[in-house]
Amino acid sequence: MKKNKLENPQIVTIDITDRCQMRCKTCSKWQVPAEVKDKELTTDQWKAVFEKLREWLPNGYWICFSGGEPFLRPDMLELVDFATSLGFRVSTMSNGYSLMNHVDEIINSKLESINISLNSIVDKSIHDNSRGREESAQKIFDVIWKIMHDKKGRNDNLSINIATIMLPENLDEIIPLVEYATKNKMKHIMFQLIEDEDSFHAYAERAGLDTTNYKIPKEYKDKVKSMEEKATKIINHLIDMKRAGHRIANTYEQLEAYKYFFNNPEGIVNKIQCDVGSTNFAVDPYGDVRLCFNMNPIGSILEKSPEELWTGKEAEECRKAVRQCKMCCRLINCNFKANFVNFNKPFLIRVKNKIKKLITGSY
Ligand SMILES: C[S@@+](CC[C@H](N)C(=O)[O-])C[C@H]1O[C@@H](n2cnc3c(N)ncnc32)[C@H](O)[C@@H]1O
Ligand code: SF4
Ligand code: SF4
Repeated sequence: MKKNKLENPQIVTIDITDRCQMRCKTCSKWQVPAEVKDKELTTDQWKAVFEKLREWLPNGYWICFSGGEPFLRPDMLELVDFATSLGFRVSTMSNGYSLMNHVDEIINSKLESINISLNSIVDKSIHDNSRGREESAQKIFDVIWKIMHDKKGRNDNLSINIATIMLPENLDEIIPLVEYATKNKMKHIMFQLIEDEDSFHAYAERAGLDTTNYKIPKEYKDKVKSMEEKATKIINHLIDMKRAGHRIANTYEQLEAYKYFFNNPEGIVNKIQCDVGSTNFAVDPYGDVRLCFNMNPIGSILEKSPEELWTGKEAEECRKAVRQCKMCCRLINCNFKANFVNFNKPFLIRVKNKIKKLITGSY
Protein backbone atom coordinates (compact mmCIF):
# COMPACT_ATOMS: atom_id res chain seq x y z
CA MET A 1 0.00 0.00 0.00
CA LYS A 2 1.09 3.55 -0.69
CA LYS A 3 3.00 5.06 2.24
CA ASN A 4 0.89 7.60 4.03
CA LYS A 5 2.01 11.17 3.63
CA LEU A 6 2.14 13.10 6.85
CA GLU A 7 0.82 16.62 6.50
CA ASN A 8 1.91 19.56 8.63
CA PRO A 9 0.09 20.04 11.94
CA GLN A 10 -3.01 22.20 11.96
CA ILE A 11 -2.56 23.59 15.46
CA VAL A 12 0.72 24.79 16.88
CA THR A 13 0.50 25.86 20.50
CA ILE A 14 3.30 27.65 22.28
CA ASP A 15 2.92 27.50 26.04
CA ILE A 16 5.40 30.20 26.91
CA THR A 17 5.01 29.80 30.67
CA ASP A 18 3.47 27.64 33.39
CA ARG A 19 3.28 30.68 35.68
CA CYS A 20 -0.15 31.84 36.68
CA GLN A 21 -1.58 34.29 39.18
CA MET A 22 -4.98 32.55 39.33
CA ARG A 23 -5.98 29.58 41.45
CA CYS A 24 -8.41 27.82 39.13
CA LYS A 25 -10.20 24.80 40.49
CA THR A 26 -10.13 23.13 37.09
CA CYS A 27 -6.42 23.48 36.31
CA SER A 28 -3.22 22.88 38.23
CA LYS A 29 -0.71 24.90 36.22
CA TRP A 30 -0.43 27.43 39.03
CA GLN A 31 0.86 24.69 41.34
CA VAL A 32 4.10 24.12 39.44
CA PRO A 33 7.02 24.54 41.85
CA ALA A 34 9.14 27.67 41.44
CA GLU A 35 12.35 25.74 40.73
CA VAL A 36 10.72 24.08 37.72
CA LYS A 37 9.36 27.36 36.41
CA ASP A 38 12.88 28.77 36.56
CA LYS A 39 13.83 26.35 33.78
CA GLU A 40 11.49 28.00 31.26
CA LEU A 41 13.06 29.01 27.97
CA THR A 42 14.66 32.45 27.82
CA THR A 43 13.68 35.14 25.32
CA ASP A 44 16.54 34.20 23.00
CA GLN A 45 15.74 30.51 23.21
CA TRP A 46 12.12 31.18 22.24
CA LYS A 47 13.23 33.35 19.34
CA ALA A 48 15.44 30.51 18.10
CA VAL A 49 12.45 28.15 18.42
CA PHE A 50 10.31 30.44 16.26
CA GLU A 51 13.04 30.60 13.63
CA LYS A 52 13.16 26.81 13.53
CA LEU A 53 9.40 26.58 13.30
CA ARG A 54 9.30 29.11 10.48
CA GLU A 55 11.76 27.02 8.43
CA TRP A 56 9.13 24.30 8.57
CA LEU A 57 5.79 26.10 8.47
CA PRO A 58 4.50 28.40 5.70
CA ASN A 59 4.18 32.16 5.77
CA GLY A 60 0.94 33.28 7.42
CA TYR A 61 0.67 30.19 9.62
CA TRP A 62 -1.25 30.82 12.88
CA ILE A 63 0.40 29.97 16.19
CA CYS A 64 -1.28 30.28 19.58
CA PHE A 65 0.52 31.53 22.70
CA SER A 66 -0.91 29.99 25.84
CA GLY A 67 0.23 28.80 29.25
CA GLY A 68 -0.06 29.38 32.27
CA GLU A 69 -0.75 33.03 31.80
CA PRO A 70 1.24 34.27 28.80
CA PHE A 71 1.05 37.92 29.87
CA LEU A 72 3.02 37.15 33.03
CA ARG A 73 6.12 36.92 30.88
CA PRO A 74 7.52 40.43 30.50
CA ASP A 75 8.74 39.52 27.00
CA MET A 76 5.34 38.20 25.83
CA LEU A 77 4.66 40.97 23.31
CA GLU A 78 8.31 41.10 22.23
CA LEU A 79 7.98 37.39 21.37
CA VAL A 80 4.69 38.00 19.56
CA ASP A 81 6.25 40.73 17.45
CA PHE A 82 9.31 38.61 16.76
CA ALA A 83 7.15 35.68 15.60
CA THR A 84 5.06 37.96 13.36
CA SER A 85 8.22 39.52 11.88
CA LEU A 86 9.09 36.00 10.69
CA GLY A 87 5.70 35.65 8.99
CA PHE A 88 3.58 33.96 11.67
CA ARG A 89 0.15 35.20 12.73
CA VAL A 90 -0.34 35.06 16.48
CA SER A 91 -3.33 34.55 18.76
CA THR A 92 -3.28 34.09 22.51
CA MET A 93 -5.31 32.75 25.43
CA SER A 94 -5.40 34.84 28.61
CA ASN A 95 -7.15 34.88 31.97
CA GLY A 96 -7.46 38.66 31.52
CA TYR A 97 -6.48 39.41 35.10
CA SER A 98 -3.54 41.69 34.46
CA LEU A 99 -4.27 42.81 30.89
CA MET A 100 -5.13 46.34 32.01
CA ASN A 101 -1.39 46.94 32.56
CA HIS A 102 -0.71 46.18 28.88
CA VAL A 103 -3.52 47.82 26.89
CA ASP A 104 -1.36 50.26 24.92
CA GLU A 105 1.39 47.72 24.28
CA ILE A 106 -1.22 45.21 23.05
CA ILE A 107 -2.81 47.70 20.69
CA ASN A 108 0.63 48.69 19.36
CA SER A 109 1.69 45.05 18.95
CA LYS A 110 1.13 42.63 16.08
CA LEU A 111 -1.06 40.34 18.17
CA GLU A 112 -4.22 39.63 16.14
CA SER A 113 -6.49 37.81 18.53
CA ILE A 114 -6.91 37.56 22.31
CA ASN A 115 -9.15 34.84 23.72
CA ILE A 116 -10.10 35.79 27.26
CA SER A 117 -11.42 33.10 29.57
CA LEU A 118 -14.66 34.19 31.22
CA ASN A 119 -17.09 31.87 33.00
CA SER A 120 -19.96 34.16 34.05
CA ILE A 121 -21.46 37.58 33.61
CA VAL A 122 -24.73 37.98 35.55
CA ASP A 123 -23.40 36.46 38.74
CA LYS A 124 -19.76 37.48 38.65
CA SER A 125 -18.98 35.45 41.76
CA ILE A 126 -19.30 32.25 39.68
CA HIS A 127 -16.36 33.30 37.53
CA ASP A 128 -14.41 34.55 40.55
CA ASN A 129 -14.95 31.29 42.44
CA SER A 130 -13.98 29.15 39.47
CA ARG A 131 -10.75 31.15 39.17
CA GLY A 132 -10.05 31.40 42.88
CA ARG A 133 -9.62 35.19 42.84
CA GLU A 134 -12.05 37.93 43.73
CA GLU A 135 -12.76 40.75 41.29
CA SER A 136 -11.39 38.76 38.40
CA ALA A 137 -14.61 38.96 36.33
CA GLN A 138 -14.86 42.73 36.84
CA LYS A 139 -11.26 43.17 35.72
CA ILE A 140 -12.13 41.35 32.50
CA PHE A 141 -15.19 43.50 31.76
CA ASP A 142 -13.15 46.65 32.39
CA VAL A 143 -10.27 45.62 30.17
CA ILE A 144 -12.49 44.37 27.35
CA TRP A 145 -14.26 47.73 27.32
CA LYS A 146 -10.94 49.60 27.35
CA ILE A 147 -9.33 47.59 24.54
CA MET A 148 -12.45 47.69 22.34
CA HIS A 149 -12.65 51.45 22.88
CA ASP A 150 -8.95 52.29 22.52
CA LYS A 151 -8.17 50.10 19.53
CA LYS A 152 -10.63 51.96 17.25
CA GLY A 153 -8.69 53.56 14.43
CA ARG A 154 -5.40 52.32 15.91
CA ASN A 155 -5.63 48.56 15.50
CA ASP A 156 -8.98 47.54 14.09
CA ASN A 157 -7.61 44.11 13.16
CA LEU A 158 -7.20 43.04 16.77
CA SER A 159 -10.04 40.76 17.82
CA ILE A 160 -11.16 40.07 21.37
CA ASN A 161 -12.93 36.78 21.96
CA ILE A 162 -14.33 34.94 24.91
CA ALA A 163 -13.62 31.37 25.97
CA THR A 164 -16.03 29.84 28.47
CA ILE A 165 -15.89 26.48 30.20
CA MET A 166 -19.29 24.84 30.70
CA LEU A 167 -19.33 24.15 34.42
CA PRO A 168 -22.09 22.74 36.65
CA GLU A 169 -22.31 26.20 38.28
CA ASN A 170 -22.47 28.43 35.20
CA LEU A 171 -25.07 26.92 32.89
CA ASP A 172 -27.49 29.82 33.49
CA GLU A 173 -24.72 32.18 32.42
CA ILE A 174 -24.12 30.67 28.98
CA ILE A 175 -26.85 32.49 27.04
CA PRO A 176 -26.17 35.91 28.68
CA LEU A 177 -22.48 35.45 27.79
CA VAL A 178 -23.37 34.92 24.13
CA GLU A 179 -25.55 38.04 24.24
CA TYR A 180 -22.69 40.00 25.80
CA ALA A 181 -20.28 38.83 23.08
CA THR A 182 -22.72 39.80 20.33
CA LYS A 183 -23.58 43.17 21.86
CA ASN A 184 -19.91 44.06 22.20
CA LYS A 185 -19.09 42.97 18.63
CA MET A 186 -16.63 40.30 19.66
CA LYS A 187 -15.34 38.13 16.88
CA HIS A 188 -16.61 35.07 18.68
CA ILE A 189 -17.36 33.21 21.89
CA MET A 190 -16.19 29.63 22.24
CA PHE A 191 -17.45 27.00 24.69
CA GLN A 192 -15.22 24.38 26.22
CA LEU A 193 -16.45 21.32 28.06
CA ILE A 194 -15.22 20.89 31.58
CA GLU A 195 -12.46 18.31 31.43
CA ASP A 196 -11.33 16.07 34.20
CA GLU A 197 -8.68 17.90 36.22
CA ASP A 198 -6.37 14.94 35.60
CA SER A 199 -6.21 16.01 31.99
CA PHE A 200 -5.38 19.58 32.97
CA HIS A 201 -2.10 18.99 34.72
CA ALA A 202 0.80 21.32 34.39
CA TYR A 203 3.38 19.85 32.03
CA ALA A 204 6.12 20.02 34.57
CA GLU A 205 4.25 17.90 37.09
CA ARG A 206 3.46 15.01 34.88
CA ALA A 207 5.34 12.08 33.48
CA GLY A 208 2.46 10.99 31.25
CA LEU A 209 -0.93 9.70 32.33
CA ASP A 210 -2.07 6.15 31.73
CA THR A 211 -4.03 7.08 28.65
CA THR A 212 -4.46 3.52 27.39
CA ASN A 213 -6.19 2.03 30.41
CA TYR A 214 -7.87 5.23 31.42
CA LYS A 215 -11.24 4.93 33.15
CA ILE A 216 -13.28 8.07 33.49
CA PRO A 217 -13.14 8.84 37.23
CA LYS A 218 -16.52 8.32 38.90
CA GLU A 219 -16.57 11.79 40.38
CA TYR A 220 -15.98 13.35 36.98
CA LYS A 221 -18.61 11.17 35.31
CA ASP A 222 -21.14 12.08 38.01
CA LYS A 223 -20.39 15.73 37.45
CA VAL A 224 -20.97 15.42 33.69
CA LYS A 225 -24.18 13.41 34.13
CA SER A 226 -25.53 15.90 36.68
CA MET A 227 -25.29 18.59 34.00
CA GLU A 228 -26.99 16.60 31.25
CA GLU A 229 -30.58 17.81 31.30
CA LYS A 230 -29.84 21.50 31.64
CA ALA A 231 -26.78 21.44 29.38
CA THR A 232 -28.72 19.74 26.58
CA LYS A 233 -31.40 22.45 26.62
CA ILE A 234 -28.77 25.16 26.63
CA ILE A 235 -26.81 23.61 23.79
CA ASN A 236 -30.01 23.39 21.73
CA HIS A 237 -30.51 27.06 22.46
CA LEU A 238 -26.91 27.77 21.39
CA ILE A 239 -27.51 25.97 18.10
CA ASP A 240 -30.55 28.20 17.48
CA MET A 241 -28.56 31.30 18.39
CA LYS A 242 -25.75 30.31 16.07
CA ARG A 243 -28.25 29.85 13.26
CA ALA A 244 -29.63 33.30 14.04
CA GLY A 245 -26.17 34.83 13.55
CA HIS A 246 -24.62 34.94 17.02
CA ARG A 247 -20.91 34.39 16.74
CA ILE A 248 -20.50 31.08 18.51
CA ALA A 249 -17.19 29.63 17.38
CA ASN A 250 -18.02 25.98 18.08
CA THR A 251 -19.29 24.21 15.01
CA TYR A 252 -22.73 22.62 14.91
CA GLU A 253 -21.01 19.24 14.85
CA GLN A 254 -19.07 20.04 18.00
CA LEU A 255 -22.17 21.22 19.80
CA GLU A 256 -23.89 17.97 18.83
CA ALA A 257 -20.90 16.06 20.16
CA TYR A 258 -21.15 17.96 23.45
CA LYS A 259 -24.78 16.87 23.82
CA TYR A 260 -23.81 13.31 23.13
CA PHE A 261 -21.04 13.55 25.71
CA PHE A 262 -23.35 14.77 28.49
CA ASN A 263 -25.62 11.85 27.71
CA ASN A 264 -22.88 9.23 27.46
CA PRO A 265 -19.41 10.41 28.54
CA GLU A 266 -17.75 7.05 27.88
CA GLY A 267 -19.47 6.52 24.53
CA ILE A 268 -17.70 9.49 22.98
CA VAL A 269 -14.54 7.41 22.68
CA ASN A 270 -16.17 5.12 20.11
CA LYS A 271 -18.05 7.92 18.45
CA ILE A 272 -15.12 10.26 17.79
CA GLN A 273 -11.58 9.36 16.95
CA CYS A 274 -8.90 11.55 18.51
CA ASP A 275 -6.76 13.11 15.81
CA VAL A 276 -4.22 15.02 17.88
CA GLY A 277 -1.46 12.76 16.58
CA SER A 278 -1.77 14.23 13.11
CA THR A 279 -3.03 17.71 13.95
CA ASN A 280 -1.38 19.08 17.09
CA PHE A 281 2.15 20.20 17.82
CA ALA A 282 2.54 21.78 21.25
CA VAL A 283 5.74 23.24 22.66
CA ASP A 284 5.81 23.47 26.46
CA PRO A 285 7.61 26.17 28.50
CA TYR A 286 10.76 24.04 28.66
CA GLY A 287 10.99 23.27 24.94
CA ASP A 288 9.48 19.78 25.08
CA VAL A 289 7.10 18.95 22.26
CA ARG A 290 3.90 16.94 22.58
CA LEU A 291 1.27 15.78 20.14
CA CYS A 292 -1.10 14.90 22.99
CA PHE A 293 -0.85 17.10 26.05
CA ASN A 294 -1.46 14.11 28.31
CA MET A 295 1.34 11.98 26.95
CA ASN A 296 5.10 12.07 27.25
CA PRO A 297 6.98 14.46 24.97
CA ILE A 298 8.22 13.28 21.59
CA GLY A 299 11.46 15.19 22.16
CA SER A 300 12.90 18.64 22.71
CA ILE A 301 12.77 21.36 20.10
CA LEU A 302 16.10 22.56 21.48
CA GLU A 303 17.73 19.35 20.28
CA LYS A 304 15.91 18.50 17.05
CA SER A 305 14.22 20.36 14.23
CA PRO A 306 10.41 20.47 14.39
CA GLU A 307 10.20 18.39 11.23
CA GLU A 308 12.47 15.70 12.68
CA LEU A 309 10.29 15.60 15.76
CA TRP A 310 7.07 15.47 13.73
CA THR A 311 8.22 12.65 11.48
CA GLY A 312 10.37 10.77 14.00
CA LYS A 313 10.02 7.40 15.71
CA GLU A 314 8.78 8.88 18.99
CA ALA A 315 6.01 10.73 17.15
CA GLU A 316 4.93 7.49 15.44
CA GLU A 317 4.84 5.71 18.81
CA CYS A 318 2.78 8.52 20.22
CA ARG A 319 0.35 8.31 17.30
CA LYS A 320 -0.18 4.64 18.04
CA ALA A 321 -0.92 5.47 21.67
CA VAL A 322 -3.34 8.19 20.57
CA ARG A 323 -5.25 5.69 18.44
CA GLN A 324 -5.68 3.42 21.47
CA CYS A 325 -6.50 6.14 23.96
CA LYS A 326 -9.76 5.94 25.90
CA MET A 327 -9.76 9.41 27.42
CA CYS A 328 -12.44 11.92 26.56
CA CYS A 329 -10.40 15.12 26.31
CA ARG A 330 -10.66 14.65 22.55
CA LEU A 331 -13.59 17.05 22.87
CA ILE A 332 -11.44 19.99 23.99
CA ASN A 333 -11.49 22.66 21.31
CA CYS A 334 -7.89 22.37 20.24
CA ASN A 335 -8.19 18.57 20.04
CA PHE A 336 -11.56 18.42 18.34
CA LYS A 337 -10.95 20.83 15.51
CA ALA A 338 -9.69 18.49 12.86
CA ASN A 339 -12.20 15.86 13.70
CA PHE A 340 -15.53 17.57 13.83
CA VAL A 341 -16.21 17.35 10.15
CA ASN A 342 -16.84 13.66 10.48
CA PHE A 343 -19.23 13.88 13.37
CA ASN A 344 -22.95 13.65 12.84
CA LYS A 345 -22.59 13.59 9.09
CA PRO A 346 -24.48 10.99 7.14
CA PHE A 347 -22.89 7.58 7.30
CA LEU A 348 -21.92 7.55 3.62
CA ILE A 349 -19.99 10.80 3.87
CA ARG A 350 -18.04 9.45 6.82
CA VAL A 351 -17.22 6.26 4.91
CA LYS A 352 -16.17 8.33 1.89
CA ASN A 353 -13.89 10.47 4.06
CA LYS A 354 -12.31 7.39 5.59
CA ILE A 355 -11.61 5.86 2.17
CA LYS A 356 -10.19 9.18 0.96
CA LYS A 357 -7.91 9.28 3.96
CA LEU A 358 -6.69 5.75 3.26
CA ILE A 359 -5.94 6.47 -0.39
CA THR A 360 -4.51 9.96 -0.21
CA GLY A 361 -2.36 9.48 2.82
CA SER A 362 -2.23 11.55 5.98
CA TYR A 363 -2.19 9.02 8.73
C1 LIG B 1 -4.93 26.33 30.58
S1 LIG B 1 -5.62 27.89 30.16
C2 LIG B 1 -4.20 28.82 29.65
C3 LIG B 1 -4.49 30.25 29.27
C4 LIG B 1 -4.93 31.20 30.36
N1 LIG B 1 -4.27 31.02 31.59
C5 LIG B 1 -6.43 31.14 30.55
O1 LIG B 1 -6.91 30.72 31.60
O2 LIG B 1 -7.11 31.52 29.60
C6 LIG B 1 -6.43 27.55 28.60
C7 LIG B 1 -7.92 27.34 28.70
O3 LIG B 1 -8.18 26.12 29.39
C8 LIG B 1 -9.37 26.30 30.14
N2 LIG B 1 -9.44 25.27 31.17
C9 LIG B 1 -8.80 25.21 32.35
N3 LIG B 1 -9.13 24.08 33.02
C10 LIG B 1 -10.00 23.41 32.24
C11 LIG B 1 -10.70 22.18 32.36
N4 LIG B 1 -10.56 21.37 33.43
N5 LIG B 1 -11.55 21.82 31.36
C12 LIG B 1 -11.69 22.60 30.26
N6 LIG B 1 -11.03 23.76 30.07
C13 LIG B 1 -10.20 24.17 31.05
C14 LIG B 1 -9.23 27.71 30.67
O4 LIG B 1 -10.45 28.26 31.11
C15 LIG B 1 -8.69 28.43 29.46
O5 LIG B 1 -9.74 28.91 28.63
S1 SF4 C 1 -6.82 27.89 33.56
FE1 SF4 C 1 -5.43 29.53 33.00
S2 SF4 C 1 -5.80 31.01 34.62
FE2 SF4 C 1 -6.53 29.13 35.41
S3 SF4 C 1 -4.82 28.24 36.58
FE3 SF4 C 1 -4.85 27.36 34.51
S4 SF4 C 1 -3.44 28.61 33.41
FE4 SF4 C 1 -4.04 29.77 35.21
S1 SF4 D 1 -8.28 11.78 24.04
FE1 SF4 D 1 -6.71 12.54 22.63
S2 SF4 D 1 -5.95 14.40 23.61
FE2 SF4 D 1 -7.01 13.24 25.20
S3 SF4 D 1 -5.43 11.96 26.16
FE3 SF4 D 1 -6.35 10.76 24.54
S4 SF4 D 1 -5.02 11.08 22.78
FE4 SF4 D 1 -4.61 12.69 24.21
